[in-house]
Amino acid sequence: MNKISLNGFDLAYERRGSGTPLVLIHGFPLDHTIWEDVIPLLESEFDLILPDLRGFGESSTVKFPYMMTDMAQDLAALLDALGVEKASLAGHSMGGYVALAFAKQYPERVDNLALVASQAASDSPERKKGRYKTAADVTEKGVRVVVEAMIEKLTASRRVQACIRPIMERQNVSGVVGALKAMAEREDCSAFLGAFDRPVILIHGDADQLIPIDRALEIKNFAPSAFLNVLSGGGHMPMLEMPQETALALKAVP
Ligand code: MLT
Repeated sequence: MNKISLNGFDLAYERRGSGTPLVLIHGFPLDHTIWEDVIPLLESEFDLILPDLRGFGESSTVKFPYMMTDMAQDLAALLDALGVEKASLAGHSMGGYVALAFAKQYPERVDNLALVASQAASDSPERKKGRYKTAADVTEKGVRVVVEAMIEKLTASRRVQACIRPIMERQNVSGVVGALKAMAEREDCSAFLGAFDRPVILIHGDADQLIPIDRALEIKNFAPSAFLNVLSGGGHMPMLEMPQETALALKAVP
């Protein structure tokens, strides 16, 4: 993997393929390797940039607290270092929150925005409280707390569970806790997305148990021009459950 020092830590990233720049941003508590199955389907058309967000994968940890906006600034610094002025962004779940924070800070740098099993809303007070409780549990007992709590909700597919379990288990306590707090404190981006003038693509499984499809339907209400791809029977991990459909949806920018 490539590594680059920026914003006080080392960010690891992969760069594959050639064409239009497309940043694929992983979700929680994962790393860039979740995109492995879609890379061969996209690399002939896109210059794929696959970061490990701060605290995840091979990127180093950063002392928390930090926000989604900090993670978005990491991506901007990465694009600067790579000489990429403008890119399309596809964010999976938490990666979608980072993509939204990026688009809000740097709208002129975004060609189009894809939210994969993600949402624009912020956390309810209960969810926010739950994140802090989980962060305390992870600090005490380790990352397996989130692995066991989440894995069945991420996907019903035993094959995909077997693929993501080791990815989840190898994540760092500090990165997981930092991201939980950053997600808890994230802004509601609904109004921003409603006014965003670049193409928005929503890719969402109708069997997603972690972020229900209703969240994508809500976005259609305030951003009617957003293009919604419903993946029938898909859960929260479309890029691994249905790589062909996910790649097609990423290519079909309206
Ligand atoms: C994710 O899959 O990235 C996170 O679970 C999203 C969330 O917890 O809001």
